[in-house]
Amino acid sequence: MSGRFIALEGGEGVGKSTQGRMLAEALRARGIDVVTTREPGGTAGAEAIRAMLLSTEGDGWGARAEALLFAAARADHVEKLILPAVARGAWVVCDRYVDSSRAYQGGGGGLSDNDVMTLHRIGSAGLLPDLTVLLAVRPEVSAERLALRDGGAADRIGGRGADYHARVAAAFRAFAEAEPGRFAVVDAEGSPEEVHGRVMAELMERQS
Ligand code: TYD
Repeated sequence: MSGRFIALEGGEGVGKSTQGRMLAEALRARGIDVVTTREPGGTAGAEAIRAMLLSTEGDGWGARAEALLFAAARADHVEKLILPAVARGAWVVCDRYVDSSRAYQGGGGGLSDNDVMTLHRIGSAGLLPDLTVLLAVRPEVSAERLALRDGGAADRIGGRGADYHARVAAAFRAFAEAEPGRFAVVDAEGSPEEVHGRVMAELMERQS
């Protein structure tokens, strides 16, 4: 069986990590070799960059430096983990990928989509997932989930204002509309099991 690359995307508190775990388990139950990973991170080098990006110490990064660091972390991740796994026939389930850079550093931080994609071409030869699952909830629902998860202790990016996160959510929606073949937009409200059922339905539909 040939490998596949699936990314989970969405704003803060939409349940990406839970859905990633459930998706991986369901695929493994079907006998598929699954590699779960996340961004920023997934390799030693990328995890080191993650620590620099998300630390709340110091005075932070400007949007451009931040975009370069995400692109550098992604380059290491793609080269050392994602491409080798797909090449040996595994399915990679990745919590966030380049659409997060497009939405956060682009939509939220003000970089042009062209600039973000140029960094992605330089870093990762422009590699895109076979399928990008966008988990979408109403803003009031994600705010509620985040308060429960972080108890007010968000990381540097998660802790940015409501305006920033509204721009991120709008950007994700726009990307999904522009590329309906690559994106599956899944309603992420309801129980984890309900959302998982929707994710699996999208996957099955796109396989046939
Ligand atoms: P993480 O703790 O993984 O957040 P979440 O659980 O919400 O996925 O932290 C990742 C943070 O980094 C999150 O706020 C989104 C942000 N991010 C970017 O700004 N650009 C990117 O390219 C990626 C991959 C993540």
